[in-house]
Amino acid sequence: MAIVDQNLSQKAIDLENEYGAHNYHPLPVVLEKGEGVFVWDVEGKKYYDFLSAYSAVNQGHCHPKIVDALSKQAKKLTLTSRAFHNDILGVYEKYACEYFGFDKILPMNSGAEAVETAIKLCRKFAYEKKGIPENKAEIIVCENNFHGRTTTIISFSNDEDARKNFGPFTDGFIKIEYNNLEALEDVLKSNKNIAGFLVEPIQGEAGVYVPSEGYLTKAKDLCEAYGVLFIADEVQTGIARTGKLLAVNHEDVKPDILILGKAISGGVYPVSAVLARNETMSVLKPGQHGSTFGGNPLACAVAIAALEVVEDENLAENAERLGKLFRDKLDAFIPTCDLVLGVRGKGLLNAILINDTEESDTAWNICLKLRDNGLLAKPTHGNIIRFAPPLVMTEDQLLDCVSIIIKTITEFEK
Ligand SMILES: Cc1ncc(COP(=O)(O)O)c(C=O)c1O
Repeated sequence: MAIVDQNLSQKAIDLENEYGAHNYHPLPVVLEKGEGVFVWDVEGKKYYDFLSAYSAVNQGHCHPKIVDALSKQAKKLTLTSRAFHNDILGVYEKYACEYFGFDKILPMNSGAEAVETAIKLCRKFAYEKKGIPENKAEIIVCENNFHGRTTTIISFSNDEDARKNFGPFTDGFIKIEYNNLEALEDVLKSNKNIAGFLVEPIQGEAGVYVPSEGYLTKAKDLCEAYGVLFIADEVQTGIARTGKLLAVNHEDVKPDILILGKAISGGVYPVSAVLARNETMSVLKPGQHGSTFGGNPLACAVAIAALEVVEDENLAENAERLGKLFRDKLDAFIPTCDLVLGVRGKGLLNAILINDTEESDTAWNICLKLRDNGLLAKPTHGNIIRFAPPLVMTEDQLLDCVSIIIKTITEFEK
């Protein structure tokens, strides 16, 4: 008779603790399998994934079409570097440019790398096309932003955990309040050296802050009026997550520079990208920017398949419809409980605000109970729980998840 090891999870956690850097604080659950909206732990327990690897697994876990593209390409050619051409990079570039409506794409790997790329591109454009004096370019960013973890990116974060003892930092960023057009115009008016405005269409990491309607349109108009590049970081909000292909599409805004990552590969492989007009991208010449893995054949094959899935399976429409249903159901429940103050979001990027302080562990404990009840989510900041399931979810599954959330919160209140 097979001996069942009851401590598989603990052993896996112990190994990570002993040999891995402690730069994360994961929920104690050890996953070994994923399919669609579900994941399974090493003991065989099944869960709804209600985080989707921070919106990377929009197409669902191990989507067969994406995995098939990966495995076919993996048997053919995986990496050439950009020292040589390969036969799929151009195909992917054309596909992605037409898909998102841009002239040119610059492929990278992680979200943070794509943000770095956009910053470099924006600065170079400002010096070479706009005539800003060298080393004087400034980029406007928003308070409570999250754009990644590199030294330059944390230079303009106001999360002290992300910054403490990582200085000295990179200059050239001006922080303004998110969702404040007056603040944006004040800086644009008073400073001749502004090269760009870098913004998340919804602040995901900060707790799913949705700006007022019209904010993005007006911000883009202001940028245009002052000759400043509008840079949308859609690493988390992009690829159908908020109910449109891009979150800026809710307001018909076309960014000058678009940053994508996460779900552009369906979570199968690290792929990110920066898209822009010819005029902007043409400032980059050979030797001025790059990455060994950026645009590798495996990434290209995976990204084409992942983007096709988004279209084939109408994921944006599904996110829009199920997102509304999710918020309607929670809006009906929330007035009946004391523990949750509200739900907010767009499409299937949502969050609930827990009625406790940011320092409290209430949200964390609710997530532990959600886990016990078969649904995985995680707090973003102490008292906010982000809900971002794969977009391939069905209505029945979503209603099942709503029942789990309501049951958990009700149990928790007792
Ligand atoms: C808006 C935004 N930009 C950039 C990043 C960084 O992406 P990565 O973790 O792939 O570097 C993230 C990650 O959560 C993000 O949400």
